[in-house]
Amino acid sequence: MDFIEEFKSSYERILGSSVGFKSDTAEPFFDYFYQCFLASSPEVANAFRNTNMGAQKQMLKRSLIYSVGFLASKESYAHMEKMARKHSRHNLNIPAPLYELWLDCMLAAVAKFDPKYDDDVELAWRLALAPAITYMKFMYDR
Ligand code: HEM
Repeated sequence: MDFIEEFKSSYERILGSSVGFKSDTAEPFFDYFYQCFLASSPEVANAFRNTNMGAQKQMLKRSLIYSVGFLASKESYAHMEKMARKHSRHNLNIPAPLYELWLDCMLAAVAKFDPKYDDDVELAWRLALAPAITYMKFMYDR
């Protein structure tokens, strides 16, 4: 299995191939992800206490865009470094376990909205998002 191809196909089935998440399932996908993530821990709700709902949803869309960009292109490293520094203990203070909740909720949303969801698709998303998650966690203490 080429996991990047598997990931891209699943991503396109849910979110479409155009920029801007214009598919019919894009909004329900992000709504589901958002509900799951906010309910996953009081720490998540606490991290967003000063952020309105629109900005929180925007953050989840951007977090996926940044993560996919990080997988695909070295050019996005500078943006990602800025974001990782913003999430580190010195700023937003987002510890490692919260990234696991983010990933689990992302996968719960993929399971719900990709009609072809199976173990290969799950593994493909986990592998595709691993570099971004690893990087964000790595930068927490730096
Ligand atoms: C790979 C994972 C993640 C990425 C790439 C990411 C990326 C981003 C981006 C792009 C923004 C918008 C900041 C801006 O435009 O200036 C943001 C904001 C934020 N993120 Fe994340 N994020 C990730 C995971 C998380 C997690 C797990 C949490 C935990 C609750 C979190 C909490 C926040 C908060 C509180 C904000 C500020 C929102 C605001 O007040 O506007 N992020 N993140």
